[in-house]
Amino acid sequence: MMQPIEWHPPLLTPETAMKHFAPILLTVGLATTISTSHAQQQPNPAVQGYAYGQSTLAKAPYSMADLKSLQTSLLFTEEDVKALRQSKAILADQTDAILDVWYGFVASTPELVYFFGEAKTGKPDGAYLEAVRKRFALWILDTADANYDQRWLDWQHEIGLRHNKLKKNKTDRAPSVAQVNFRYIPALTIPVTTTLKPFLAKKGASTADVEKMHAAWVKSVLMQTILWSQPYIKDGGF
Ligand code: HEM
Repeated sequence: MMQPIEWHPPLLTPETAMKHFAPILLTVGLATTISTSHAQQQPNPAVQGYAYGQSTLAKAPYSMADLKSLQTSLLFTEEDVKALRQSKAILADQTDAILDVWYGFVASTPELVYFFGEAKTGKPDGAYLEAVRKRFALWILDTADANYDQRWLDWQHEIGLRHNKLKKNKTDRAPSVAQVNFRYIPALTIPVTTTLKPFLAKKGASTADVEKMHAAWVKSVLMQTILWSQPYIKDGGF
C-alpha cells in the first residue's frame, strides 16, 4: 500500500506537486508520455475506448432541455463557454503535466487508487491506469471546447456508465473493482480544478482571465459529474 502524503491544495503548484508525487508516479509506473495532439470530437481510433461521437453510443436518458436547465442552475453562461474555449490553447500542450499532477493525487490517496486496483490483490493496475489516462487527456481538451450538443450529452452518459458498475472495467477489460463509489466523483471536482489553476496561469493570461477560466472549469466539471450521477440514482430521482 502506498504511503498517504500530506496535500495542501492552496500551495500546490505543478512544480511542488511533481516534487511530491514523482516517486509515487514512478512506483505505479505512470510517468509515460501521452500524445494529446489528436483530441477532437470525433471517434479517435488512436485511443482505445475513446468513443465521443460514435453512433454506437446509447442516447442519454436526459435531454438537451434538461441540460439547459442544469446549466441555468449552475450559473453556467456563454461567458463560461468562452472562458473554457480560451483555456484550450493554454492547456493543449500541458495535458501530460496536468495528468501527472492528477494521477499523482489519485495515486497518493488510498481511498481513490483503490478504484484502479485489481479486485483480487488490491494492487494498482498499471495497464488500466495507463489506458484511462489516454482518454483522460482527450477529456481535458473536450471539456475546453465542448459544444453541449446531443453527441456531447451521449458521451457524458457513457462516461457516467463507465464509472458505474454497469460499465466500469469493460472498455479496458480491467480486472478491477466493480464501480467507483459515487460520493468520490463530485468530490474530485475540487482537486481537479484547484490543481488546474496554475496551469491556466502559465501562458501569460491576465489574473482576471485566469479567474474566469478557473470558475468556468469548476462549473463544467461539476456539471459533468452531476450528469455522471444518473446511473447511480434510483429511477425517477435524477
Ligand atoms: C471530477 C471527477 C472526475 C473526472 C473529471 C473523471 C474523469 C474521467 C474520465 C475522462 C475517464 C475516462 C472515460 C473514458 O473515456 O473511458 C474516467 C474514467 C475512470 N475514472 Fe474518473 N473522473 C472523475 C472521478 C473519478 C473518481 C473519484 C475516481 C476514483 C478513483 C475515478 C476513477 C475512474 C476509473 C476507475 C475510470 C475507468 C472506468 C472504466 O473502467 O472505464 N474517477 N474518469
